[in-house]
Amino acid sequence: MSRPDVLEKLVSLCKRRGFIFQSSEIYGGTGSVWDYGPLGVELKKNVKDAWWHTMVRSRDDVEGLDAAILMHPRVWEASGHVSGFNDPLIDCKACKARFRADQMDGASCPRKPSKKPGEQGDCQLTEPRQFNLMFKTFMGPVEDTAAVVYLRPETAQGIFVNFLNVQQARRQKVPFGIAQIGKAFRNEITPGNFTFRTREFEQMEMQFFVDPAAAEGKRTDMEWFEYWKAQRMEWHLALGLERERLEFHQHSATELAHYAKAAFDIQFDFGGTLGFQEIEGVHHRSDFDLGRHQEFSSKRMEYVDQVANRRYIPYVVETSVGADRVTLALLCNAYAEESVEGESEGRVVLHLKPSLAPIKAGIFPLTKKDGQPEMANRIVEDLRPLYPVDYDDAGSIGKRYRRQDEVGTPFCVTIDPESTGNGTVTVRDRDTLAQDRIDATQLRAYLAAKLAG
Ligand code: GAP
Repeated sequence: MSRPDVLEKLVSLCKRRGFIFQSSEIYGGTGSVWDYGPLGVELKKNVKDAWWHTMVRSRDDVEGLDAAILMHPRVWEASGHVSGFNDPLIDCKACKARFRADQMDGASCPRKPSKKPGEQGDCQLTEPRQFNLMFKTFMGPVEDTAAVVYLRPETAQGIFVNFLNVQQARRQKVPFGIAQIGKAFRNEITPGNFTFRTREFEQMEMQFFVDPAAAEGKRTDMEWFEYWKAQRMEWHLALGLERERLEFHQHSATELAHYAKAAFDIQFDFGGTLGFQEIEGVHHRSDFDLGRHQEFSSKRMEYVDQVANRRYIPYVVETSVGADRVTLALLCNAYAEESVEGESEGRVVLHLKPSLAPIKAGIFPLTKKDGQPEMANRIVEDLRPLYPVDYDDAGSIGKRYRRQDEVGTPFCVTIDPESTGNGTVTVRDRDTLAQDRIDATQLRAYLAAKLAG
């Protein structure tokens, strides 16, 4: 069954409600670069916090890192990105469009009537040529080849070059991991599908260093690989992505990087023509990266096992997930159009997990008099230090509910005439639409329990 395509509706909702805007929109926009607005930044931060909590804070065998975006250019020679991070490109000299040579079957000419590249009559397609995906810039005042530096195309290399710094500073023993969240940049040829493939994006990556010849009774490298595959799938499920929309895709021998022992993608069904697409990669990178950095820097990248009296370059199991892609997956997963009993108009609702929702509670005085706004403001002041809340006194209660449903706010608190009389408020649940009347003094604890659940 193919799921409906909600991307276009999401683009509109995200702009209207302050989740995601096109970058530099007033100048006509920047190609495939996006800005996160007030609600988008909260949602993506909640995703990143959930990842950091699971991968770093709740474990004693993974350390955090925040490496610089600009690195020594030799890093990218060692990693293979200077020579090998290329897409084969075909240009059309007639319409100036650019196509990926390996995706010509699905490509279409931007001119009307819509045809395949090469079928317009006057198309002038070039031979395929390699196009490096790294953005280049210059360090210092002189713009010559000696000053070239790159915007990192992945965060992983910052982890590899710091492997021994972290291991020694934290006295970690293999197996252990290093995790970081940060921006990465790729001059993608065929970006698109909203924030799915962009030129500037955030990665959440973890490199787990393991013994290539683990002693008997210890997990082997392939057992660690299986362990991390399972852990990462559990994380996506815990965020609320539907089980039937998630699957593993194993890299075939032709897809595998030459140094990789194994690789799986975790794919999510985005619906419509996009369908199942990668949101995370779990890769067994062998000792390739550390070995290459040892070769290119002439610095030893070996781990010294003092108990077994051995030195070796560890194998690496990598988990690499895009913060923007997961955020988009969550929006697709959460989006619903529903009819509401007793109401002629339906509602658009984001069924986000409460802990991920950008706003946790809408606070509504039923009317703008009789002490209701004052009581509502006291509640806002009480809750705001804990999490984002939204005070709203405009329009009917129904309209206010709709506004909060559309941005995924899990709870709406209404202050009515009864509230100022006996100190109770109603709390309406976004998903069940059930309303509980509770004492305002219990509101903090009530919401805390619901948000934790
Ligand atoms: N260090 C390994 C690595 O970078 P990758 O499969 O190229 O592996 C990992 O990228 C993840 O980063 C992807 O699964 C995706 O979520 C995200 N990602 C990669 N390129 C992206 C792009 N152009 N726009 C948005 N996210 C991207």
